[in-house]
Amino acid sequence: MKYGFFNDIDKEYIINNPKTPYPWINYLGNENFFSIISNTAGGYSFYKDASKRRITRYRYNNVPADDGGKYFYINDEGVVWSPGWKPVKNKLDEYACHHGLGYSKIKGKLNGLKAEVLFFVPLDFDGEVQKLTLKNESTENKKIKLHSFVEWAFWNALDDMTNFQRNLSIGEVEVEDSVVYHKTEYRERRNHYAFYSANQPINGFDTDRESFLGAYNGFDHPEQVAKGTSGNTIAHGWSPIASHFFEMELNPGEEYEVIFILGYAENKQEEKFLSQDVINKANAKRMIKEFSNGEQVDQALTELKQYWTNLLSHFQVKSEDDKLNRMVNIWNQYQSMITYFFSRSASYFESGIGRGMGFRDSNQDIIGMCHMVPDLARQRIIDLASTQLKDGSAFHQYQPLTKKGNHELGGNFNDDPLWLILSVSAYLKETGDWSILDVEAPFDNNGNESSIFEHIKLSFYHVVNNLGPHGLPLIGRADWNDCLNLNCFSEEPGESFQTTENKKGKVAESVMIAGMFVIYGEEFARICDFTNNPDEAIKARSHIEKMKAAIDKYAWDGDWFMRAYDFFGNKVGSKENEEGQIFIESQGFCVMAGLGHEDGRAQQAMNSVAERLSTPYGIVLLNPPFTKYQLNLGEITSYPPGYKENAGIFCHNNPWIIISEAMLGNNEKAFDYYKRIAPAYLEDISDLHKTEPYVYAQMIAGKDAAIPGEAKNSWLTGTAAWNLYAITQYILGIRPDYEGLRIDPKIPDELTSLKIVRKFRGAIYNISIENNGGKKMTCYLDGQKNGSLLPYKGMGKIHDVKIIFE
Ligand code: BGC
Ligand code: NOJ
Repeated sequence: MKYGFFNDIDKEYIINNPKTPYPWINYLGNENFFSIISNTAGGYSFYKDASKRRITRYRYNNVPADDGGKYFYINDEGVVWSPGWKPVKNKLDEYACHHGLGYSKIKGKLNGLKAEVLFFVPLDFDGEVQKLTLKNESTENKKIKLHSFVEWAFWNALDDMTNFQRNLSIGEVEVEDSVVYHKTEYRERRNHYAFYSANQPINGFDTDRESFLGAYNGFDHPEQVAKGTSGNTIAHGWSPIASHFFEMELNPGEEYEVIFILGYAENKQEEKFLSQDVINKANAKRMIKEFSNGEQVDQALTELKQYWTNLLSHFQVKSEDDKLNRMVNIWNQYQSMITYFFSRSASYFESGIGRGMGFRDSNQDIIGMCHMVPDLARQRIIDLASTQLKDGSAFHQYQPLTKKGNHELGGNFNDDPLWLILSVSAYLKETGDWSILDVEAPFDNNGNESSIFEHIKLSFYHVVNNLGPHGLPLIGRADWNDCLNLNCFSEEPGESFQTTENKKGKVAESVMIAGMFVIYGEEFARICDFTNNPDEAIKARSHIEKMKAAIDKYAWDGDWFMRAYDFFGNKVGSKENEEGQIFIESQGFCVMAGLGHEDGRAQQAMNSVAERLSTPYGIVLLNPPFTKYQLNLGEITSYPPGYKENAGIFCHNNPWIIISEAMLGNNEKAFDYYKRIAPAYLEDISDLHKTEPYVYAQMIAGKDAAIPGEAKNSWLTGTAAWNLYAITQYILGIRPDYEGLRIDPKIPDELTSLKIVRKFRGAIYNISIENNGGKKMTCYLDGQKNGSLLPYKGMGKIHDVKIIFE
């Protein structure tokens, strides 16, 4: 069953049934001010950091689901309803939610009254703009009452949800004209406040939640709305809100428009107050003026759409497959930008308080967005490198507000450093900007600087310096698979597997890191080649050769690559094991590393994946699932079979197999795997899939789960970047390389003719691919026969590329 449809022209997903199986959300904002908004206008806003600067309140995992958001209540002569269906949940005559790129539009209609609310955060603006339009489409005059509603959060999201003994006494607001100002803690150490403005005169307001809702009422039945009044309350403590109240009369055909701004503003210490305890509101007023009429709003929306169109224009494909087109051209790129902004911090599955910017996550996110905004990628790489430690290891996370490594979450995940080589090499290939290697970045942000080149060299040698008994990399706390905790041995209920490491860990080794080392180690060596460091390159390659030999000798299990050696030196991911005999990660990374391509082992590993791990809904992480908790393996065995790392379909790692299949020339298989998890292909089974059909989820329940195919944790996942990378660079095969664009499509038979526009380093490549089914490729660059590398010839050039397979 579907709950909406794609509108590819406007780049929107339009939801026409509000009761989606889970709230289907969108993100607003692209620099400082962000909002998350669901299809029924649930959600919240924050400034820069969802944990430390929360602007509106949200209760996760609430009952009823997704309660709390940016609500409007319409009282049409006694009939109360909301344009987004929730919170009132009156049956509407019409409902639609258009989730677009950086904006959402929610429309409702009841008894001839039409309401439309546009929500977006304009470019370079620290606030959410809401344009609400009411239109009387009936033949009668209507007397309408309208209430807006947001609930303030006290900045620190965790404290806001827990420290009630203090918080219920500190709330403060001011009301002036049509603006409610939220100033809790402003009187003391904060220099920032929030506001909620309207550009029309109001007939009243409320700022005290209980007076507005009425004691024991929910958001669905506010007392003031039912009465058609406002309390004109000023909150003192308890829970401040902001609600505007309007009364109007609309003739048939008449429209009424209000523009609301939910904004954030800061003042310098000496300019904080106008008079005793009264906020200096100049900054808010300046912002309010920027959107005082509908034209200003429409103009800003046009600019925002233009911004996104421009970003997406760096890679556009036209093929016979609409689902492929909309994934690549719109939604997968959009999701990659969103994961770049948020890492894994704030979604409807991430509370915004738990996690900062992950070192490995953020480095991997670069491969999904550096073609769109290379400058942001560059800065992110420098920020990440600046948290690295002198021995090459890395903090697992940093906080976006301070950019400092998060000491509480520690480090010692031995895959982390290598991902920095991935991001740096991806950036270099995309931009050709070798100067990044000379940028000086500190260690642990403490001033001791080293070049980015030195940072990636340290990443490389961090592996070399931490090898285990078989010459394979020590896993440390865990590798990419956070739940493979081979040195943890946790017996304490509730103890975090992520921060606990109970054993010294000089034995447990990771075959996945070994594969990664071969791949990213070779990238390091190539960077040495290009920067005229032949000695470094030779040295690096000798380490890589040793690693390959160690994998060949100690990590091939007969039909697939093993996963690890545990604390005792026993095999993990081997036929010898009772459960968890085969894992996906080492198959992907060893085959992507080129291992076993000549002697058939790579193909054999892929056959084993197809046999043991592949399901109609995607490829599971391991098989057979763990049925018992095992001390020596950690969190992975804590999940019930079929979920998350314990044999769930972990969508982040499916592209490793897609790429491997493509590298082996198994074009059909690669595309088949791609389609199994790409959300646009799952739209018809939304009932089962549950999460948004326009973005990837981190996990789909595996074949051993109660309901295989059910997805969770949509939006913020490395799945976005990796699938975009797999489809654009390996299946469509347009791959940036240090010297130019590498052309290596691995197209399935069902796609016979494709057109791709790739903007690359300021040049435009108009590429056409004619697929006559064969594997022999002929490539023409500007009419001349060319090999598979299109050498970069400079900015501003427009190239014509023709590729024929026969
Ligand atoms: C999850 C992982 C996640 C880790 C870190 C674990 O509980 O299963 O997917 O990476 O937590 O937060
Ligand atoms: C999610 C985490 O964000 C990521 O860092 C990790 O690699 C995967 N889970 C797998 O455990």
